[in-house]
Amino acid sequence: MNDLDQLVAAATADFDAAPTPAELENAKARFLGKSGRVTELLKGLAALPPEQKKTRGAEINQLKGRIEAALQARRERLADAELQAQLQAEALDVTLPGRGRGTGGLHPVSRTIERIEAIFGSMGFDVADGPEIETDWMSFTALNNPENHPARSMQDTFYVDLKDEHGAWLNLRPHTSPMQVRYAQAHARKHAPAVAAGQAMPEIRVIAPGRTYRVDSDATHSPMFHQCEGLWIGENVSFKDLKVVFSDFVRQFFETDDFDVRFRPSFFPFTEPSAEIDIAFGSGPLAGRWLEVAGSGQVHPNVVRNFGLDPQAHIGFAFGMGPDRLAMLRYGIDDLRLMFDGDLRFLAQFR
Ligand code: DAH
Repeated sequence: MNDLDQLVAAATADFDAAPTPAELENAKARFLGKSGRVTELLKGLAALPPEQKKTRGAEINQLKGRIEAALQARRERLADAELQAQLQAEALDVTLPGRGRGTGGLHPVSRTIERIEAIFGSMGFDVADGPEIETDWMSFTALNNPENHPARSMQDTFYVDLKDEHGAWLNLRPHTSPMQVRYAQAHARKHAPAVAAGQAMPEIRVIAPGRTYRVDSDATHSPMFHQCEGLWIGENVSFKDLKVVFSDFVRQFFETDDFDVRFRPSFFPFTEPSAEIDIAFGSGPLAGRWLEVAGSGQVHPNVVRNFGLDPQAHIGFAFGMGPDRLAMLRYGIDDLRLMFDGDLRFLAQFR
């Protein structure tokens, strides 16, 4: 190896040892800078005789080219390494599971109400919605509740610190039954011109699901709960129709034919006669037990009068059931409070 080859080897080793671009520039200066070793060689040419100058000069130039090539190679390798390090640092693992937003879902009671609406809808029932803050007349008087009925007491009903135009306290409706009156009145008004012209009034067929309130709280009672009112009024609607409609509802709601329905005599001020509707499944975890699912009855003549209709001409039945209880039966939930605690571990099961 002559002195020039040695110089190339020394420069290459020096360049390769530089860990950063800045240090590589320092190494470059040591060979190609103003007082670098290659520059020193070129300066030495001056002392040579002319015939040697030419060959030596060409050799040094060639040397300079080789050193520059080594420098460039190292520059590229450093840039490459820097790019690799950056890519590594910003690496994105596309195989990681996504972090998506959790999907929401309907509350089991909302699902149940939608189900009730769909089933009664298929039987020609309209769906009505009404106020949760009610007047005394709508919640009680119109429904034939006597003045001294316990439902009117503070122990049962939440009152609102506001009075209606008759000076009676407003209440948080303790049942959906006022919707019978609101809907029937609107229906009677709507069809009054046709009736006055001698036409028959179309039947009233409606359900009214919604929130209801009572001063009550334990494993089977919540101060806020849900009811679904049903009303069917026509010229010739009887208990037989109620039994058919309700049985059909139970069959569709629980997706089984294997059950019995019984009407157990009871009392409600707004119906006469009145009955509790019980069902018993023939199989499954609840088999053989009578389960109360609704109150019902033939609408009392006084109530029909409050609808704005003639009880001689318009008769029918009403029922009131609890969607919360239906949801619990359908999904096998044993504590009503679970429904209203807002615990996602419970709710997520219904997504
Ligand atoms: N409103 C009653 C309650 O809250 C339930 C009820 C019973 C509704 C009989 C009715 C009915 O429409 O006919 O306990």
